[in-house]
Amino acid sequence: MTNWKAYRPLLLPPIRGLDRIEVYEQHGGYEALRRVLAEWTPARVIEEVKASGLRGRGGAGFSTGLKWSFMPPPDGRPRYLCVNGDESEPGTFKDRQILEFNPHLLIEGALIAAYAIQATAIYLYIRGEYADWIDRVEVALLQARERGYIGERVLGTDWSIAFYVHRGAGAYICGEESALMESIEGKRAYPRQKPPFPAQRGLWGRPTTINNVETLANVPLIIRHGAEWYNQIGAPKHPGPILYGISGHVNRPGVYELPSGMPIETLIYEVAGGIRGGKRLKAVIPGGSSTPPLRADQIAGVTMDAESLRAAGSMMGTAGMVVLDEDTDMVRVLVRIAEFYHHESCGQCTPCREGTGWLVKILRRIERGEGKPADLELLLEICNQMEGRTVCALADAAAWPVRHTIQRFREEFEARCRGSLFSVPEPIPSTSQ
Ligand SMILES: Cc1cc2nc3c(=O)[nH]c(=O)nc-3n(C[C@H](O)[C@H](O)[C@H](O)COP(=O)(O)O)c2cc1C
Repeated sequence: MTNWKAYRPLLLPPIRGLDRIEVYEQHGGYEALRRVLAEWTPARVIEEVKASGLRGRGGAGFSTGLKWSFMPPPDGRPRYLCVNGDESEPGTFKDRQILEFNPHLLIEGALIAAYAIQATAIYLYIRGEYADWIDRVEVALLQARERGYIGERVLGTDWSIAFYVHRGAGAYICGEESALMESIEGKRAYPRQKPPFPAQRGLWGRPTTINNVETLANVPLIIRHGAEWYNQIGAPKHPGPILYGISGHVNRPGVYELPSGMPIETLIYEVAGGIRGGKRLKAVIPGGSSTPPLRADQIAGVTMDAESLRAAGSMMGTAGMVVLDEDTDMVRVLVRIAEFYHHESCGQCTPCREGTGWLVKILRRIERGEGKPADLELLLEICNQMEGRTVCALADAAAWPVRHTIQRFREEFEARCRGSLFSVPEPIPSTSQ
């Protein structure tokens, strides 16, 4: 998008009091739900969302409509929609903006999704640290219940839906979809083996679909304006508005809503006001701490969508960008990231439980200047033993930053292994500054 300043936010429009149902309704709120319940079959909703090209905003970028279509036909017994508001990936802080400023958009999106998959109940899982936002959502849910959008025979139709909020207790693993379901069931959040996938056997063994908060907030927009309108926004294969969370060494960190496919350079130098103190860019972690960092000389022309980022050697993840300036010690960054994944490993799978600990130990000794040159190969070998060998993707999320940070900043790690404690090499000049 060349003129990003002309973009008008859709998920977080600048309307005061949008968390109050009357304000939300004055601006077209719940019309999409009304239309769907009055005129559309569940299959038509799924087709429309498929045609929109909406992809999940929780990290994996899977087609939302396709995921919904995996649900088996209703059999009269319970089936569920889980809404993932765990938001624990470091660098990610965008779902909470929806919970705070536009909770009814999420509630409406979740209700439409639940109708599409013919769910009987919705569980919204929110990390417990988001106490204030949980309260706001609870109030919004009360308002929606009073208006007849939730409960028995919604808006006089034959369709009934229950809506529950579940507070997490602050564990990253609870964001993994099957661990989240275990947690709702009151068990220790150990991820489940897949298959069976949640659509076959999910919450309490019943068919379940799970979607991220931001993903579902897009759904009313698609129904209101149509799939064709929606897939004109941003990158053709990864369309729609995106909440870019930009943090780190920029002048104006924050959450910015813009179309998908924004050039990384525009986001850093224009939207977020450039690098703090006029310094040069060293690296960008584009989509949360598990996504491989890109060096400054790797970002020219790279846009924030799955295709462009894959070609550049990284991933879209949650679009939580961490910007690192020329003074950044990449060894320290990697130690900190590795410590997070070690702390958060649930311990169920040996390669993850042990591997994340070894990564931390070796990285810490490199940081102290006590590493050996062979340590880098050892770290990469541990990554080989972790990736793809566990029940869930936490081990991959822990291994990718290690593998790619070492590959892309090898000199810095080698210098540390030679014992040079303060050996941050000259940064590679950024292409745009
Ligand atoms: C260790 C781990 C943590 C995760 N944490 C989150 C999270 O906090 N929020 C989220 O939406 N998805 C998270 N995910 C992804 C979910 O498993 C799942 O793919 C997502 O909720 C699906 O929603 P979407 O298709 O709308 O993106 C995590 C995955 C893993 C492996």
